[in-house]
Amino acid sequence: MNLFNVYPLYDIEPVRAQGSYLWDKTGTQYLDLYGGHAVISVGHCHPYYVEKVTQQLNQIGFYSNSVRIPIQDELARKLGELSGCEDYALFLCNSGAEANENALKVASFFNGRKKVIAFKKSFHGRTAGAVAVTDNPAIVAPINFNEHVSFLPFNDVAALEAAMNEEVCAIIVEGIQGVGGINVASDEFLQAARRLCDQTGACLILDGVQCGYGRSGRFFSHEFSGIQPDLITTAKGMGNGFPIGGVLIAPRFHARHGMLGTTFGGNHLACAAAVAVLDIMKAENLMENAARMGAYLTENLTQIGLRGCGGIKELRGRGLMIGIELDQPVDKVRDTLLFEHHIFCGYAGKNTLRLLPSLAIGRAEAARFLEAFSAVMSVHA
Ligand SMILES: Cc1ncc(COP(=O)(O)O)c(C=O)c1O
Repeated sequence: MNLFNVYPLYDIEPVRAQGSYLWDKTGTQYLDLYGGHAVISVGHCHPYYVEKVTQQLNQIGFYSNSVRIPIQDELARKLGELSGCEDYALFLCNSGAEANENALKVASFFNGRKKVIAFKKSFHGRTAGAVAVTDNPAIVAPINFNEHVSFLPFNDVAALEAAMNEEVCAIIVEGIQGVGGINVASDEFLQAARRLCDQTGACLILDGVQCGYGRSGRFFSHEFSGIQPDLITTAKGMGNGFPIGGVLIAPRFHARHGMLGTTFGGNHLACAAAVAVLDIMKAENLMENAARMGAYLTENLTQIGLRGCGGIKELRGRGLMIGIELDQPVDKVRDTLLFEHHIFCGYAGKNTLRLLPSLAIGRAEAARFLEAFSAVMSVHA
């Protein structure tokens, strides 16, 4: 049997990883400034993480949500503490798309409505509901197309005000758009979304799948705007590579048995991985590190841009979610960084280099990237 060929591949086969580094089968070392789409939060193969997951696997790896699984409560308690969302309740699932799917369901069950407002350049996942609120017709199959969804311009308060009414079930928005190009939602925009939801009885869903879990320098990037969403979704960095997602659900939503459900969500092993991530984030002050290293990278990238050898059009993002918009297509720069300097970076759209390193990245690694980037841009600018 062959694999269903949906992924364009780099001809690189990583066989080992540690911290911010990967090694391929020929022994070549790569610096990882991408974490496989923002997934590696505390660093590859962190010893505490490996120990916790191994211990759990040796005890019990899985049983279904029909029995008591106390490590789920430990995860919810620690997540509440570190995120400051103690009064929210947690529903556990397996991915970012599933988290958004369930958040949309909770909203619709709650107010009985079905219209959703999403935004241009949004990405919320590939399952039926999540892809219907994703602004990319190429990945929306006819069966997923949903006439209840409107896509408004991002960060446009007037357009949002004009579109909101008592028929709207939910607004779904990324605190920082990731796939769409690292676009930060403005404070004014998120505050307007909160106010309009309150006025019309709609629910505010903040998709923190990529920008959450400490990446922005705060636990959730919407904290900068001082708003409290009704539903917050997470995944990616939550398990540092072990598949897990979650919906944080505000106290005004009441659970009933059977309302949501999943076979794998919240299993012992996934929870052990997620608890280990939170323990490490707390013990190693990784949110502070994300803010500090994000500032270091951004300041130095600004300098590179100012020196005029950069070809940098705009820098966007917060903390360790950085978009470098170039004045040219990004593919040559990305490939030179990867194949000549052995540095993994991502991209968003045609012209934007996307950096999503581990929250534990050190100054030496950041400096290595800056030096390589500067060299590459002086050739390609
Ligand atoms: C903001 C956002 N939401 C949802 C998703 C979907 O997550 P998953 O691929 O885990 O389903 C992604 C994935 O890139 C994302 O960036």
